[in-house]
Amino acid sequence: MESFLVVVFLIISCASLAFSAGPCKVGATRKLPINQTFLSSFSLLAWSYEGDTGPNHWKGVCETGKRQSPIDIKSSDAVYNALGKFDLKNYDKKLDLNFTVANNGHGMVVSLAGGNYTVSGGGLVGSYKTVQFHLHWGPNNDEGSEHVVNGTAYPAEMHFVSCNTNYPNVTEALKYPDGLAVLGVFIKVEGDDNDAWSFLDFAANVTKYKSSVVVPASDFAVFNKMLPASKSDYYRYNGSLTTPTCNEVVTWTVFKDAVNISKRQIGLLRKLEKQDGKPLKENYRPPMPLNDRTVKASFNATSVATNPPPAAGSTTMPTGGASVSRMTAGLFLSMLLILFTLQ
Ligand SMILES: *[C@@H]1O[C@H](CO)[C@@H](O)[C@H](O)[C@H]1NC(C)=O
Ligand SMILES: *[C@@H]1O[C@H](CO)[C@@H](O)[C@H](O)[C@H]1NC(C)=O
Ligand SMILES: *[C@@H]1O[C@H](CO)[C@@H](O)[C@H](O)[C@H]1NC(C)=O
Ligand SMILES: *[C@@H]1O[C@H](CO)[C@@H](O)[C@H](O)[C@H]1NC(C)=O
Ligand SMILES: *[C@@H]1O[C@H](CO)[C@@H](O)[C@H](O)[C@H]1NC(C)=O
Ligand SMILES: *[C@@H]1O[C@H](CO)[C@@H](O)[C@H](O)[C@H]1NC(C)=O
Ligand SMILES: *[C@@H]1O[C@H](CO)[C@@H](O)[C@H](O)[C@H]1NC(C)=O
Ligand SMILES: *[C@@H]1O[C@H](CO)[C@@H](O)[C@H](O)[C@H]1NC(C)=O
Ligand SMILES: *[C@@H]1O[C@H](CO)[C@@H](O)[C@H](O)[C@H]1NC(C)=O
Repeated sequence: MESFLVVVFLIISCASLAFSAGPCKVGATRKLPINQTFLSSFSLLAWSYEGDTGPNHWKGVCETGKRQSPIDIKSSDAVYNALGKFDLKNYDKKLDLNFTVANNGHGMVVSLAGGNYTVSGGGLVGSYKTVQFHLHWGPNNDEGSEHVVNGTAYPAEMHFVSCNTNYPNVTEALKYPDGLAVLGVFIKVEGDDNDAWSFLDFAANVTKYKSSVVVPASDFAVFNKMLPASKSDYYRYNGSLTTPTCNEVVTWTVFKDAVNISKRQIGLLRKLEKQDGKPLKENYRPPMPLNDRTVKASFNATSVATNPPPAAGSTTMPTGGASVSRMTAGLFLSMLLILFTLQ
């Protein structure tokens, strides 16, 4: 019991760290059923990407949800929609800020406090503050991304997570279907080191479980350079966090074009350690059923041949509990989930 409490404490601490970003703001929208959130809260404490606690055993909404992420994007089924250009505020600037780079046991997470970067446009309703970005990868270049296109995965995928400014914080945003917007970037392993992704070198500073470093934003390339050059070609659908508690609150953007990183750079990620001290070789959730959802494409996806990538993957994010709200425990679990997911 004692160790359980310690774990919970650590999780909470982490979560606050991860989501300490500035307020999103307050608004009114219908809340999701509490029941769902409640159930999902409990899957947090012991989830992983393997064995008895792997994706096939995640509970709650992860198991029962009908708008789960990631998905296999069948480009020929994507419906063309002129969603428009993104407005990525400060994504072209190096601000006088510090970022926190952490290994949360589920991945590498870079947390941004202050809400200085915002995402709007691109068919999104409203404005979203970027709170963190994190990565998913696999043990080899045939797998690692969470989304897959036409059944083909990439070696890795990055997620920029942003919180709807209608809500005061991520914990609150997790209760609403329009709570988060995530920008997904496919990663290929090709060629020399990609300088725009030199922050991957910080993976070597957080090899150990729960380790973190504070790094000046000036040591990162501007975010625009981390994103694909073509930011106007992307897929859009309504989905979820790809980690417990799998809250169905994410408006997904998955860019059509991948970015390249080197073999050395992806190797840094594969050296991160899990809680048990062993390498975190993979941290992706496999594709979930599309069900009755529509995938939109901002471009004519039926006439475009996609780049050849690797195999299959997954994504994760924060979790939150709503019904538990009566008990503080609920909030608390949510925070934990969120932390882990972000990682
Ligand atoms: C909670 O969710 C489960 C699974 O979706 C459902 O079967 C059950 O009726 C729900 N309970 C309440 C009180 O809403
Ligand atoms: C960033 O961190 C450094 C070292 O901890 C500190 O001196 C500096 O004031 C911080 N900068 C900002 C903008 O918080
Ligand atoms: C970042 O956002 C915070 C909170 O809104 C603000 O106080 C700070 O001045 C901003 N920093 C920069 C460098 O824009
Ligand atoms: C998030 O916002 C809600 C509603 O304003 C507040 O009750 C809660 O304490 C906030 N949580 C955090 C972690 O700041
Ligand atoms: C990261 O590790 C490198 C190599 O050991 C070291 O030079 C650097 O100072 C570390 N960075 C931080 C932010 O701790
Ligand atoms: C996502 O859900 C919203 C609200 O129901 C809807 O307006 C929007 O069209 C959906 N997006 C997609 C891509 O289906
Ligand atoms: C990635 O590599 C491919 C193949 O070498 C190349 O065509 C493409 O231009 C590269 N992309 C970037 C962004 O460097
Ligand atoms: C997309 O491209 C295909 C093949 O060139 C063409 O048949 C189709 O009409 C185009 N669709 C739209 C919406 O432009
Ligand atoms: C996916 O497959 C469809 C046909 O099955 C093809 O038209 C489309 O170009 C493919 N897209 C990619 C990105 O490979």
